[in-house]
Order: sequence, then structure tokens, then C-alpha cells
Amino acid sequence: MINNNIESVLNKQIQKEEFSSRLYLSMAMWCEVNGFPGASSFLYRHAEEERLHQLKIIHYVNDRGGKALLLDQEEPASEFSSLQDLFEQILVHEEYITGHINQIYGLAVEEKDYTTGNFLQWFISEQLEEEKLVKNILDKIKLVGNDKTGMFHIDKELATIATAKPESPVA
Ligand code: FEO
Repeated sequence: MINNNIESVLNKQIQKEEFSSRLYLSMAMWCEVNGFPGASSFLYRHAEEERLHQLKIIHYVNDRGGKALLLDQEEPASEFSSLQDLFEQILVHEEYITGHINQIYGLAVEEKDYTTGNFLQWFISEQLEEEKLVKNILDKIKLVGNDKTGMFHIDKELATIATAKPESPVA
């Protein structure tokens, strides 16, 4: 049985994963109307993946005898100054998520809830992969700068890049 503290932080994480999904959906929509079809397709897929992260935690909380909740959501950003600005915001957001996953892991260890610690291992690996992927994309975007042909190729490549996935999430 999950304790109240762990249940509460996991419910806040469900909220954050849902927010991530909405943020990437909003970014995908911006890309779609600003001439970046490849980035848009990448971000639509990323939004789906965040929803799977959300579901993974929902099932875990419920399976451990807790009660998963859907907490309120803020409206995600919908305007970006450039593709670089957008990916910089993704990196900041993922670093923020990593920080929270680490905090929950720390709490699980403190509370001797090793089952939750074990559950979080998947998320720790996922965060590492996601940050690495976003940094890699950002490096490429910075490298081409204002070169329109370079940007066209990056966007094309983004259409085929798989989103980070250490293993299939069990949704
Ligand atoms: Fe659910 Fe982008 O981590």
C-alpha cells in the first residue's frame, strides 16, 4: 500500500506529465502553422508519449492501493519566437521534470518505499534519454543558425527521429 506522501507527489507528477503532453501538443500546433511540418510531427508524437507517461503513473498509483487524480492544468505557452526558442523551452522543461522525478525518488528512499524507487528507475532513464535527444536537436539548430536550407533539412530529419524511449512504457 502506498503512503499518503508518496501518493500525493505521484499525483503531482501525473499532473506534470499531462502538462508536458499539452505543452508539446501546443508546440506541435505552432510548428504546424509556422512551416515546420517535421518538427510538428515529432512533437505530436512526443505529446502522445507524455500521455503514456501520465498513464503509467496513474496505473501505478491505483495498483498500489492509492487513488490517482487529475489535478488542474495551466494553459501551455502557444507563441514561440523561433524553432530554437521552442527547443530551448523543451530542454528547460525536461530539466524541470528530471528534478521532480529525482525528488520523488529521494522521498521514496527516505520513506523506505523501494517499490516506488524501483518504479521510478524507468523514468530516470527516460529523462536521461530525453534530455540527450533535445540537446542534440538544439545543437543542430544552433549550427545552421539562419541558414534556410539547413533548417529545411533539420525539419525533414525531425519527421523521422524517434522520440526518446528506453523501453516501451506499460500504459
Ligand atoms: Fe515525461 Fe518528457 O518526460
